[in-house]
Amino acid sequence: MRNDDDPVLDDPVGQSLGSRHAHLARRIGRAATYPTGVATFSSVSADPHAEDWSDLAGLLGPGAFADMFNCPALAPANWEPVFSLAGLQMIWSGDGRPGRPVSESGTHVVELGADSAPEMLELAARTEPGPFWPRTHELGTYLGVRVDGTLVAMAGERLRPPGWTEISAVCTAPEARGQGHAARLVRALTELIVARGDRPFLHVADANTGAITLYERLGFKTRKQVTFRGFRTP
Ligand SMILES: CC(C)(COP(=O)(O)OP(=O)(O)OC[C@H]1O[C@@H](n2cnc3c(N)ncnc32)[C@H](O)[C@@H]1OP(=O)(O)O)[C@@H](O)C(=O)NCCC(=O)NCCS
Repeated sequence: MRNDDDPVLDDPVGQSLGSRHAHLARRIGRAATYPTGVATFSSVSADPHAEDWSDLAGLLGPGAFADMFNCPALAPANWEPVFSLAGLQMIWSGDGRPGRPVSESGTHVVELGADSAPEMLELAARTEPGPFWPRTHELGTYLGVRVDGTLVAMAGERLRPPGWTEISAVCTAPEARGQGHAARLVRALTELIVARGDRPFLHVADANTGAITLYERLGFKTRKQVTFRGFRTP
């Protein structure tokens, strides 16, 4: 299992785009970004030089949104800050309780494909688990819980730096909360990820104490504090 201090986790966007999401990467030099509709995240490496920022500006175009995710480096002064949000990067410690069969409680966990994209988008819009776009599900496996055919909870795989898979888009419709759906989905994804030889990690906003409590119960621990930042290119 990868070490807690694995440096690839300090640049998860760049490391994903340089490895298992290379087929999706748009790139100039060391600057890279995901296609529109899949994700907005961009990377200039964990230790960017001035030419990396100008390469990214060339890639995104003028006046464009540059979602730098948790890149610790600040964009040049002429890039307008759009948002800044404090958060945590958490990693699965391996001593939680991931291993229950997904159907144990009788709730049916299903894999969500492209045909479920409209419902996934609607659920994400209602619950705001973080950015979710029409093709985000292409980044990995997405699982959901349906009640009477309606999607009430989902979670999926997003960034995939070498040796790691990020769990993301964890959300439950307000009327279906407190029934263990999110816990069941995160456990199911953890099982899938560990079986593949990867280690799960995730990101959460500092203020989201309910989700942090849930993740800690499921065996995740904080690796570091991060700041999510977005800018507008000059
Ligand atoms: C966080 C969220 C996904 C939890 O969904 P859920 O299906 O209600 O979670 P579960 O029922 O699996 O909860 C598991 C445990 O966490 C606890 N928990 C869940 N949400 C909590 C909250 N807001 N505050 C405190 N504890 C919480 C539950 O009490 C439960 O404990 P129990 O097993 O002892 O009963 C849901 O509140 C949500 O969709 N929030 C908005 C989107 C979001 O913030 N997603 C996380 C992005 S990182």
